[in-house]
Amino acid sequence: MFSLAVSASYSKEAPIPSGPMRAGGRDGALRCAKREGELVAMRLLITGGSGFLGRALVREFEQNSARFERVDTFRSREYDLRDRAAVTQLLSDKRPDVIIHLAAKVGGIGANQRYPGTFFYDNLMMGAQLVEEARLRKVQKFVAIGTICSYPKFTPIPFKEENLWNGYPEETNAPYGIAKKMLLVQLEAYRKEFGFRGITLLPVNLYGPGDNFDLETSHVIPAMIRKFHTAKVAGADTVTLWGDGSPSREFLYVEDAARGIRLATEGYDSPEPVNLGSGSEILMKDLAQLVREVVGYEGRIHWDTTKPNGQPRRCLDTSRAKQFGFQAEMPFAEGLKRTYRWFLEAGERE
Ligand SMILES: NC(=O)c1ccc[n+]([C@@H]2O[C@H](COP(=O)([O-])OP(=O)(O)OC[C@H]3O[C@@H](n4cnc5c(N)ncnc54)[C@H](OP(=O)(O)O)[C@@H]3O)[C@@H](O)[C@H]2O)c1
Repeated sequence: MFSLAVSASYSKEAPIPSGPMRAGGRDGALRCAKREGELVAMRLLITGGSGFLGRALVREFEQNSARFERVDTFRSREYDLRDRAAVTQLLSDKRPDVIIHLAAKVGGIGANQRYPGTFFYDNLMMGAQLVEEARLRKVQKFVAIGTICSYPKFTPIPFKEENLWNGYPEETNAPYGIAKKMLLVQLEAYRKEFGFRGITLLPVNLYGPGDNFDLETSHVIPAMIRKFHTAKVAGADTVTLWGDGSPSREFLYVEDAARGIRLATEGYDSPEPVNLGSGSEILMKDLAQLVREVVGYEGRIHWDTTKPNGQPRRCLDTSRAKQFGFQAEMPFAEGLKRTYRWFLEAGERE
């Protein structure tokens, strides 16, 4: 049996791969390499594997994929991807066949507004250096996790991948969105010049157990959960939320996103970026009501219109992802309940 070597807390035995195996089939699917009659399984490196999406993705590969002999991940204190020497060392140490790049500087509107330079520089440098080093080392496949913050501020609804370049992103997250979009350019250019196989996935806003509930840096759903919960416990009669409640958003459960990334890693090989979403849009004011009900808070909601709304509407065309068999499964209300349950059990302490 192959052993699935992952960082200590994720370690788990993997099932034995079945069927004939070779590297990179004509359909672009990844298969294990065959050397001199011996089966050699592949090594997967997930950057950002300690993060919210990263932990779900490591679990997804542990539980549902037999393609990889090893799934490696690491912390930024071990290898800081902004440092080229650390990137070189990382690939020497792990020798991956496939890389899924999740590591990023991320945050909500507030964090993006406070640290636009850091969001731009860190994300650009991590991605550009890692792709270059992966090309030099002949990594077989590179999966870049982008973001829908890369879309233009006024994109026709639903967002289609071909509209990605038709305008400047919403100002509050443009440095982050553009830095991440540069990776798409790099991968397309490297595919043309070097035959380097890179794909780009664009997940919509994620939510779920394991999210970041720190109000300084969190995204909208964990921020609402924490605010309503704190007000419920304190008996406060009003909760203040940012903006006027008019924008719309789409959300994808983190385990659905992880499954989509695994399916694309195993079965998609084309330079065109692919949206990963649930395909359903919700107004912020309706979202706030829903989260309030899940948390059981009975007070009032005050919308602070001095704070930014962010992008006016977000809803994805999710048809391209069907090419590799992805469709979101988690019903939104159930996903919210699971997220709140996790917050009560673990997230509140973080
Ligand atoms: N969350 C969302 O709603 C969402 C939506 C769309 C796309 N995405 C994308 O999904 C990816 C993961 O997001 P997330 O929400 O899971 O983020 P997260 O929880 O903040 O995790 C970020 C990860 O990046 C690593 N990292 C940060 N700086 C690093 C550096 N200098 N060197 C090496 N590693 C570094 C962190 O490692 P340490 O903990 O060790 O520092 C951590 O594992 C990102 O690429 C993000 O753009 C997220």
